[in-house]
Amino acid sequence: MKNLRFILLLAFIKVSISIIISTSYGKLNGKHVGEYHSFKHVPFAKPPIGELRFQKPETVELWNDVREAVDYGPACMSNSTWTKSPQKWVDEDCLHINIFTSNKCLKSKNCPVAVYIHGGELSFDSAVMFNDTFMFDTFVKRDVVLLVPAFRLGIFSHFVVEDQSIAPTNLALYDILKSFEFVKSEVHNFGGDNKKITVFGHSYGGTISSMLTFSTEINQDLSLFQKSVSMSGHQYFETLELHMERAQRFAKHANCLVDPKQAETMTRSEQDRLTMKCLQAKSGMELLRVQRSLEEAGYSDLKGVVLREPIFPKVKPMELWNSPNKIPMLTGCTKIEFDHEDEVIPLATVFGFDNPKECDEKYRKDLKEGTVGEQSSLKNYSKLVFADLVNHTDKTMAITVPTKIRVNKLLENGIPVYLYEFTYPKHAKHADDLYYIMGVHPFQEDENEIHLKKVYQDMFINFIKYGHPGDGFDRSNLEKSSYFDVYWNETTGERPQMRNDFEKKVMDYWLKDMMEFDRKITEEKKKSLEKPSLRYTKLDLSGSGMDQSSHLLFLIFMVLAVFIAGFFVGKCCSSRKDNLYVRLDGRNFETVKHFE
Ligand SMILES: *[C@@H]1O[C@H](CO)[C@@H](O)[C@H](O)[C@H]1NC(C)=O
Ligand SMILES: *[C@@H]1O[C@H](CO)[C@@H](O)[C@H](O)[C@H]1NC(C)=O
Ligand SMILES: *[C@@H]1O[C@H](CO)[C@@H](O)[C@H](O)[C@H]1NC(C)=O
Ligand SMILES: *[C@@H]1O[C@H](CO)[C@@H](O)[C@H](O)[C@H]1NC(C)=O
Ligand SMILES: *[C@@H]1O[C@H](CO)[C@@H](O)[C@H](O)[C@H]1NC(C)=O
Repeated sequence: MKNLRFILLLAFIKVSISIIISTSYGKLNGKHVGEYHSFKHVPFAKPPIGELRFQKPETVELWNDVREAVDYGPACMSNSTWTKSPQKWVDEDCLHINIFTSNKCLKSKNCPVAVYIHGGELSFDSAVMFNDTFMFDTFVKRDVVLLVPAFRLGIFSHFVVEDQSIAPTNLALYDILKSFEFVKSEVHNFGGDNKKITVFGHSYGGTISSMLTFSTEINQDLSLFQKSVSMSGHQYFETLELHMERAQRFAKHANCLVDPKQAETMTRSEQDRLTMKCLQAKSGMELLRVQRSLEEAGYSDLKGVVLREPIFPKVKPMELWNSPNKIPMLTGCTKIEFDHEDEVIPLATVFGFDNPKECDEKYRKDLKEGTVGEQSSLKNYSKLVFADLVNHTDKTMAITVPTKIRVNKLLENGIPVYLYEFTYPKHAKHADDLYYIMGVHPFQEDENEIHLKKVYQDMFINFIKYGHPGDGFDRSNLEKSSYFDVYWNETTGERPQMRNDFEKKVMDYWLKDMMEFDRKITEEKKKSLEKPSLRYTKLDLSGSGMDQSSHLLFLIFMVLAVFIAGFFVGKCCSSRKDNLYVRLDGRNFETVKHFE
């Protein structure tokens, strides 16, 4: 009898605490951990399978029964050796979002909201790889509703073709935007206020968070999100042509290219459509196998974002940062990031300089001369400057410099921005600091790191809740180039504090001197375009029957042709390097295979 009563009591407790939430699409049964609740494997789009493979995400269908939202679903398709966190369970039916909230938020219905975009370059990692304990601790315990959406990766988001009516470019971004629509319309059911949404990303997730913040083509009414956080993100847009080439290579290896004879009678679009149909007819696992075998052959390149309409404005890479939406930002990086990796990166190309070839040549030359000393071509610079530059690898600067470019652009436009640098040396590599927030890549915290964890959690959450990180972390100042130095030393009593001159020498070098150099080269090119044509028109070409203006046109044409040819030669010969391109987040780089 006593036992029975106990069992009944248990049953009662179970019923009373298992929470069922209604959404516009149907009911969800989540899981509780004390005061906290999670709802996992919640679809925000139709499964992108069959005819929907390579297409924009479609609105999810309603479900009738209560949907179980207790356990994580599969990760999106990936199988890469670039990451330390390979996903065990992958499936194409992966457009799900995971939601973390609390009794308090469910009651008040007005908690601020964070949407976390995972890293991995749109090639690996997932929305189901983080530690629940940490996410509850960082976000939910501090009354923030956290949502972690999935998005397609690799070939499943990178079948890039010229004609976007066949397959849209940047599918992963469409997935992310679709998840934001879900958040906007549903988050109140989970206790969140859809007027207080922060997009939050680390590494390539930070890159995406920045891109979405700066694109003038999306979120114009600020209804999708109102604040953004970008941790340790780089920025780089490879060309549409390169992405198309990669998709074609993939199709070839999947035996889906149109037979050359047949192709002769077809337009490019017709061929691409046939290729897509062929790829859609294969199983997802087969495509993943092809992708993996290409990676093993050295082509791990189905990743990244293309700067292309309609998600982005039609501008050059550097111009994207010129007109940010009015979205306050918290951004920064770690001191070391990738200083332990010596990969050579065409930085001027990455940063979007107008004359990348000349600028990168100059950089290599300066580095060489700087380390040897004496004859630096930048006479103003001492050896020390170059020591500092040398102290940071290309791969680190590929993060710190764009971070500062974005900060400057926001400040120039009068938008609040908070810049930090995590300088505690023991764990200041790329993604080390993510542990404090999301619990990945754990390590044993020392006496200082216990405090640093709290500093980190507080600064991000304060920003999400109140719009400023608090605790002495002020807005960055453009003139002073100020930033929050996140450091702690129990022995000396040192604490996090505002400092000036964020990575000064590196920034002076790239954002002052090199930009100036870039401008000069552009001017010189303009001049040399004018000069020879004048000279040439003086030569006697009268026999040719051309008049003066057609001489001029002919000349301009010739010069342009030479330039364009040079451009493409440069492209083709550098494409191999592109394959070697920065892998942010995958931390076991030693496994990387070099090509051929
Ligand atoms: C990933 O690729 C490896 C090597 O081909 C294979 O052994 C493994 O089963 C693949 N994993 C998945 C999830 O497809
Ligand atoms: C998540 O973090 C907690 C707290 O550090 C730890 O006890 C637990 O083992 C972690 N879970 C996983 C799956 O790593
Ligand atoms: C270059 O040197 C001059 C004279 O020492 C100094 O005034 C100026 O600030 C220096 N410029 C840079 C960019 O360091
Ligand atoms: C750069 O490295 C050198 C030694 O390689 C060191 O002496 C110097 O302090 C470092 N500079 C900075 C700013 O870390
Ligand atoms: C803290 O400061 C002491 C004294 O200057 C120094 O020896 C120690 O290395 C510092 N700890 C860290 C982790 O920077």
